[in-house]
Amino acid sequence: MATGVQRQVSPVTVSGLTRRFGDRAVLDGLDLEIPAGQFVALLGTSGCGKSTLLRVLADLDRDIEGEVRVARRRAIAFQAPRLMPWKRVWRNVALGLPGKPNRKRAQAALDEVGLSARGDVWPKTLSGGEAQRASLARALVREPDLLLLDEPFSALDALTRLTARELVEQLWQRHGCAVLLVTHDVDEALVLADRVLVMEAGRIGYDAEVPLDRPRNVSDPRFAALRTELLARLGVH
Ligand SMILES: Nc1ncnc2c1ncn2[C@@H]1O[C@H](COP(=O)(O)OP(=O)(O)OP(=O)(O)O)[C@@H](O)[C@H]1O
Ligand SMILES: [Mg+2]
Repeated sequence: MATGVQRQVSPVTVSGLTRRFGDRAVLDGLDLEIPAGQFVALLGTSGCGKSTLLRVLADLDRDIEGEVRVARRRAIAFQAPRLMPWKRVWRNVALGLPGKPNRKRAQAALDEVGLSARGDVWPKTLSGGEAQRASLARALVREPDLLLLDEPFSALDALTRLTARELVEQLWQRHGCAVLLVTHDVDEALVLADRVLVMEAGRIGYDAEVPLDRPRNVSDPRFAALRTELLARLGVH
């Protein structure tokens, strides 16, 4: 049986996942598998259940039916940085780790997101982009096999957003973790992801690989064709 080739377990295997709120099944028999290291973008109209899915995958919601298997080492970052205002930045980052606050590992994560000098300050003294980077550091500090990102850039201005996007791509390339990124931005999905999903009627209604080399070129006609296809899928013509 042993062939010398190690079979990696997928960080996400979901089958028949249903989540009801009252009579409404927001997730309705959803199936999804994400292999190790894959960067996946998840799109879908507002209210279709993207955050609900991420919360289930992060084990923040267990009121579900179906089968959900997720890598034990996983981390989530939300639209808002959600830093504890009464803890210094490095202590916020250290919250990503179990056990006693580990300054060394928190500092290494802060170095990675370009916040080396900000470990000792209070969260309220950070800019929006810096706070979001601190939140990324808190997610990365435990070196997750699965990184769940729920619209992490949407509150940032356009320029900061581009920098944050590049940072996420670099971190993904360096760490090799699987990423599931929720975004409303079709271009962002096509710049970053190996694979794009669209959620429809409580399931993954569209699932396609992005067959473009990196770094992605937004003026490539194939990029434009994919954009058009995705926008149509989202009901934007
Ligand atoms: N705790 C809850 N109780 C009742 N309904 C909920 C709850 N959480 C989510 N919902 C409902 O489930 C649906 C899906 O919500 P969800 O937050 O997953 O949408 P979303 O796809 O992330 O939307 P958006 O793009 O606007 O963030 C919504 O109609 C929402 O009102
Ligand atoms: Mg949401």
